[in-house]
Amino acid sequence: MTSFQFFAGVFLLVSVFFTDLKADPSSTAVNSTVPIRPRFNEDPGRIINGTLAAMEATRHQVGIRKALNDGYFYGTGHLCGGALIRPNFVLSAAHCFVDQIIYDGTFVPIEEFIVVMGNLDRFNSTNALTFTIAERFMLLDKFVLATYDKDIALLRLNDSVPTNHPTIRPIALNRNEIVDGVVCQVTGWGLTEEGYNSDYLMTLDVPVIGEQRCVEESDLGSLILPGMMCAGYLEEGQKDACSGDSGGPLVCQSKLAGIVSWGINCALPKLPGVYTEVSYYYDWVLEKMGEDDGSGDHSGSGDGDDDGSGDHSGSGDGDDDDNGGGGSMTILASSISLILPLFVSLRLMLN
Ligand SMILES: *[C@@H]1O[C@H](CO)[C@@H](O)[C@H](O)[C@H]1NC(C)=O
Ligand SMILES: *[C@@H]1O[C@H](CO)[C@@H](O)[C@H](O)[C@H]1NC(C)=O
Ligand SMILES: *[C@@H]1O[C@H](CO)[C@@H](O)[C@H](O)[C@H]1NC(C)=O
Ligand SMILES: *[C@@H]1O[C@H](CO)[C@@H](O)[C@H](O)[C@H]1NC(C)=O
Repeated sequence: MTSFQFFAGVFLLVSVFFTDLKADPSSTAVNSTVPIRPRFNEDPGRIINGTLAAMEATRHQVGIRKALNDGYFYGTGHLCGGALIRPNFVLSAAHCFVDQIIYDGTFVPIEEFIVVMGNLDRFNSTNALTFTIAERFMLLDKFVLATYDKDIALLRLNDSVPTNHPTIRPIALNRNEIVDGVVCQVTGWGLTEEGYNSDYLMTLDVPVIGEQRCVEESDLGSLILPGMMCAGYLEEGQKDACSGDSGGPLVCQSKLAGIVSWGINCALPKLPGVYTEVSYYYDWVLEKMGEDDGSGDHSGSGDGDDDGSGDHSGSGDGDDDDNGGGGSMTILASSISLILPLFVSLRLMLN
């Protein structure tokens, strides 16, 4: 696969040094028939051979919808997934907000979206709550479609989910890197193997592929940047390596560890799904939510999800602030744009 790596390398170098030229996504040098694809519902992002999700395990799942479409018919505005991480904060992917018509990385204003949660059936509004986005935090002014770098968006909702809501509950953030082989669950309403959008939330087990193994053994190689993680079936591929909707949660050990980001086609051997690595951005997320980090005394914050009030063992609520320290990599996140070109070329040379 040297030729692939060569093309990928050239592509990355070009995109890093000429990002302003905004590469046409259909003419990427990786392979013009298999460009980096977002995992929108109309793209190959889908839960292949997954099973129906259970409410108990997916209460944090939200749907990000186009307000206009959903206004015509409830459920049809579905665009992306996301995860409720506090009663009034949702974590999703930055690329979900990219203007799909201009398609140069420009973001669409937050007024055009709503956030819906509370039902596994996206057309059923029973128990569901709808919010608008009051504030959106991202690490980029314009998304880099050629690399999918920093594919993370933190959304502050216009209101909070009431505590003890029957079908909605925030999920804790994963703080430490997930090691190779841990089996995680990805969920989404994306296309199924039958080729149409799922009405019901689907779930799929995917093992994490450690960064080193993903860079060395998959065909994604140097496309894997810091802050990205791989999960799927490296060898079998066709088994069910597809991820769910863009922005949707990858849950490992009952915590939010990844955000569905991108892939090259779907379910192919050597091309696992790529996720935004939550632990890498952990400090940034806490900072933007206005939560103090490192002191380990968040129990008094009154968010309602830090007190372990639920009796639901395994939900992991609110215990994402344990073992203070760590997360040092994350400090780089805010200044990484300065380092990136050097870093990428270094990786390319090593390959
Ligand atoms: C691009 O990928 C497709 C599908 O995997 C493959 O059939 C084709 O040969 C590839 N083209 C090049 C130039 O590598
Ligand atoms: C909608 O969901 C609720 C539970 O959340 C269920 O009781 C009800 O039967 C569903 N309605 C339809 C039309 O499927
Ligand atoms: C938040 O937005 C939703 C959806 O537009 C609306 O129904 C609700 O009243 C809003 N809440 C507040 C506190 O403004
Ligand atoms: C789904 O699973 C079946 C049975 O394991 C397999 O034959 C099929 O190829 C899978 N579908 C896809 C799209 O991978």
